[in-house]
Amino acid sequence: MSKKNIKHSWAEPYKIKMVEPIKMTTREFREKAAKEAGYNTFLLKSEDVYIDLLTDSGTNAMSDYQWAGLMLGDEAYAGSRNFYYLWDNVKKYYGMPYFVPTHQGRAAEHMISKIMIKPGDYIPGNMYFTTTRVHQELAGGTFVDVIIDEAHDAQNEHPFKGNIDPQKLEDLIKKVGPEKIPYVSMAGPVNMAGGQPFSMENLKTIYKLTQKYGVKLWFDATRATENAYFIQQKEKGYSNKTVAQILKEICSYFDGIWVSAKKDLLVNIGGFLATRNKKVYEEARNMVVIYEGLHSYGGLAGRDMEAMARGIEEMVKPENISMRVRQVEYCGVQLEKYNIPLVKPYGGHAIFLDAKRFLQHMKQDLFPAQSLAAEIYIDSGVRGMERGLVSSGRDPKTGKQRYPKLELVRLTFPRRVYTQSHIDVMVESIAEVYEHRKKIKGLKMVYEPKYLRFFQARFVKL
Ligand code: F0G
Repeated sequence: MSKKNIKHSWAEPYKIKMVEPIKMTTREFREKAAKEAGYNTFLLKSEDVYIDLLTDSGTNAMSDYQWAGLMLGDEAYAGSRNFYYLWDNVKKYYGMPYFVPTHQGRAAEHMISKIMIKPGDYIPGNMYFTTTRVHQELAGGTFVDVIIDEAHDAQNEHPFKGNIDPQKLEDLIKKVGPEKIPYVSMAGPVNMAGGQPFSMENLKTIYKLTQKYGVKLWFDATRATENAYFIQQKEKGYSNKTVAQILKEICSYFDGIWVSAKKDLLVNIGGFLATRNKKVYEEARNMVVIYEGLHSYGGLAGRDMEAMARGIEEMVKPENISMRVRQVEYCGVQLEKYNIPLVKPYGGHAIFLDAKRFLQHMKQDLFPAQSLAAEIYIDSGVRGMERGLVSSGRDPKTGKQRYPKLELVRLTFPRRVYTQSHIDVMVESIAEVYEHRKKIKGLKMVYEPKYLRFFQARFVKL
């Protein structure tokens, strides 16, 4: 190896000051726990989990700088100083002049859907996200997937599988008319596609197209920093720009954004809506008072807003964002050593196991991804999440199940929480399950809630 190649490893850009012990359990214990939870990893008790990769949402470790900020919480009902500091950082880093805090992302999705969508409208987007789509549907809209075809193919290595297909979008605009499209809903990286980013080139094309037809463009900027990092790493012309610069450039094409702060912003709770559209802002500022709290706290404590404001400054730091994405990449590389079928390229926030190929013997009706997530938990106490038929749910009009092409188990990485050795243990467990995969028989759903069924559905083993 040449000297140049020696300095290739990365390590966490922090040291550990406080530890949270985790409970070690036996296989017998986990078999019982999984059965009691109806083989739904959402229904497991957190203390019965060894390595928790359910989600990166609100599960982040805050820095000492953020924890110190909590003590500066100004818990006034109106106009707290933390609100103004957060607003300043939203302007500075996202470039949006108007801002309304919410307690988490779906509250902002609720408001934007209620403000913009009329019954009978269509909302094109780059693949659905569960909570985003349900709010669009509850407002009377119909979500239409206009992501590029490559995104539905787990093995396709297109570097920007989050891109919108301009042809699909233009066809829809021509078919239903621009007046029936309140906005195009773009997300990046696309969670359900496996954490896949869009490119700046694609964003510019979509921006021009929406301008041509007078359609608004809105952004689910929940993990926008990861998308900016991928653009820096993969797209021509961006390697010399900082992630902060790229993030601001991305946002410059949008009329507004909604954000679940529980991801990029390195906090445990929070969300917001921000826009350059004064009319939408005024409606949101009025509506937030009904659903969340006063427009200067939106369901959050002053200290939460302080942690968010500080989190924005930390999320764009090169060492933080690169470690974040490279940790996920490390996991992918290790799993591939055992030939485990994965979604490629690796996502920004998670590795997605391709349950269709992992459990080739199982029909989609037997919920392969749900079964696989349960088996992995039973094997080692590692908790992942189903992202397949259960998550996809039913068509609200026909009541029929929506069969997604992607049947995945998501292993999602909380930020700054787990180490490389945790990943090694997790990889060994999945390799073990892969070796004995033929023994997995599938599940039957015995309880199905009406909305977002994946959260609370219950199953029995076949
Ligand atoms: N948009 C995206 C892209 C998300 O991933 C989420 C949440 C939301 C909106 C809603 O935000 O949870 O703060 O209300 N995703 C979590 C996940 C739940 O596990 O991926 P929220």
